[in-house]
Amino acid sequence: MRTKLVVGNWKMHGSLATNLGLLHAVREGVATSAAQVAVCVPYPYLTQALSVLGSSLVAWGAQDVSEHAQGAWTGEVSAAMLADFGCRYVLVGHSERRSCFGDTDAIVAAKYAAALAANLTPILCVGETLAEREAGITGDVVMRQLDAVLSRCGVGSFSRAVVAYEPVWAIGTGRTASPAQAQEVHALIRSHFARENVEIADNLQVLYGGSVKGANAAELFGQPDIDGGLIGGASLVATDFLAICAAAI
Ligand code: PGA
Repeated sequence: MRTKLVVGNWKMHGSLATNLGLLHAVREGVATSAAQVAVCVPYPYLTQALSVLGSSLVAWGAQDVSEHAQGAWTGEVSAAMLADFGCRYVLVGHSERRSCFGDTDAIVAAKYAAALAANLTPILCVGETLAEREAGITGDVVMRQLDAVLSRCGVGSFSRAVVAYEPVWAIGTGRTASPAQAQEVHALIRSHFARENVEIADNLQVLYGGSVKGANAAELFGQPDIDGGLIGGASLVATDFLAICAAAI
């Protein structure tokens, strides 16, 4: 039985003042949650996450990481630096990084490897665009994205990683994949891993992301291969985020 995981992705939102109320509310609200809960905050707020969430049930993480360990990479942040701030998770390959910042499959695989090397848990994001779905190539796109990481790091690495299926057309659009549409891709993802290692496939947490709200979370999370969610917009409002966490049982 896989434990459910709900991860907030704040994206580029927040301020020291507004984060404080949100972090405290999540910390208090999650005290009795059956699910694992984490928030991925912008880099400058990692120290605030560490101070408010330290010794709570809520984990925290970042939204991206450099593929390099250290050196002359102005503006980059290494996985070891994230570990220094108590991060447990880091998103790699979010569709906004892929489409706006040039993260190719190979770069995503290198970031995933860098995260593991620092003992972080990478949350590998995959998903198709609307055009790709309409062209009937959703499965091909998602498998290509997974294979780039599988061929670099091996199936064994997924005992220390999480996968998030996020159809690009559902991110921030208010348009959620139906539970059946999401389940179909989640089952495909799990069977892809099962071909190489059944135990790893069975234990792998595969999250769904894309316009998850309190109102649709329970039905999505009730699907057999959906193990929780990666939550953007709704993670910025404590009551909304906590309603989603409560749906993950
Ligand atoms: P959304 O974002 O919940 O606002 O659709 C999800 C994400 O980008 O991770």
